[in-house]
Amino acid sequence: MKLDQVGIWSEIKLEIIKEYASAYTKIMSSQSWCKGYVYIDAFAGAGKHISKQSGEMIQGSPLNALEVEPPFTEYHFIDLDEERADVFRRMAKKNPNVHAYHGDCNEILKTKIFPALTYNSRKRALCILDPYGLHLKWETIKAAAELKTIDIFINFSIQDANRNVLFEDLARAKPEDIERMNAFWGDESWKELLYREQETFFGETRQVRIEDYQILSKEFCMRLKRVGFNDAPEPILMRNKKGGPLYYLCFASQKNVAKNIVNDIFDKYRRAY
Ligand SMILES: C[S@@+](CC[C@H](N)C(=O)[O-])C[C@H]1O[C@@H](n2cnc3c(N)ncnc32)[C@H](O)[C@@H]1O
Repeated sequence: MKLDQVGIWSEIKLEIIKEYASAYTKIMSSQSWCKGYVYIDAFAGAGKHISKQSGEMIQGSPLNALEVEPPFTEYHFIDLDEERADVFRRMAKKNPNVHAYHGDCNEILKTKIFPALTYNSRKRALCILDPYGLHLKWETIKAAAELKTIDIFINFSIQDANRNVLFEDLARAKPEDIERMNAFWGDESWKELLYREQETFFGETRQVRIEDYQILSKEFCMRLKRVGFNDAPEPILMRNKKGGPLYYLCFASQKNVAKNIVNDIFDKYRRAY
């Protein structure tokens, strides 16, 4: 199977998620009311990557999660790629706490995983939403928020948005890419934040960008709160070696303590990066 080559920003993301996951199971395992603390990797990947830095093979987020101590009580791994999903199917055969799915996570989360995570189930979950681009749907995020039982990390791909949607003249974006942005954002309000209608010399109107992508992160956090998360700290912006923006790593949770832990982890990497 072809593995992804990942840059330092992905290695940092993996570290951040691993650190938070360790803190999460430590806290949850001490809560006597809690009937299970569940790990969900909705864009699970191949399980391993090749580090561009070292050329070595490194573990992806699902394998890191399986090593966290104390362990999660359940693991759910989803991937759209059949071969990648098979990696986790093989794991599931050996470990009854592992559940593997092949398909679109937006569908699988809604129909197969979230229904078991109601507030009364007394289960809590950490869900990693780490697509390559704008492939996550807002309705999935909203469903997670409404349950009040889930903490999420979201990879908000600014690179995909900048390359395919947020042109100075919005007419340059393909309708299907605008649709992907709408589905990720939840509606078309990103246009109001970034664009103004302007009349051309020929009396036509066009949508001209008046703001950069940066203003999206604050509003995205506000949207996470409006939809039902208790808090969403300022995301960390991952950049490539030349300083180009790749994605915001966002976090949202139901508990202040979770936000504080993530803020400390984000701050540590913001200072070092
Ligand atoms: C960035 S990789 C995930 C990396 C992984 N989180 C890690 O850090 O090790 C994204 C993965 O999402 C999968 N994918 C893309 N669209 C998907 C979808 N709609 N549902 C589930 N998986 C999807 C791709 O096949 C790819 O393996």
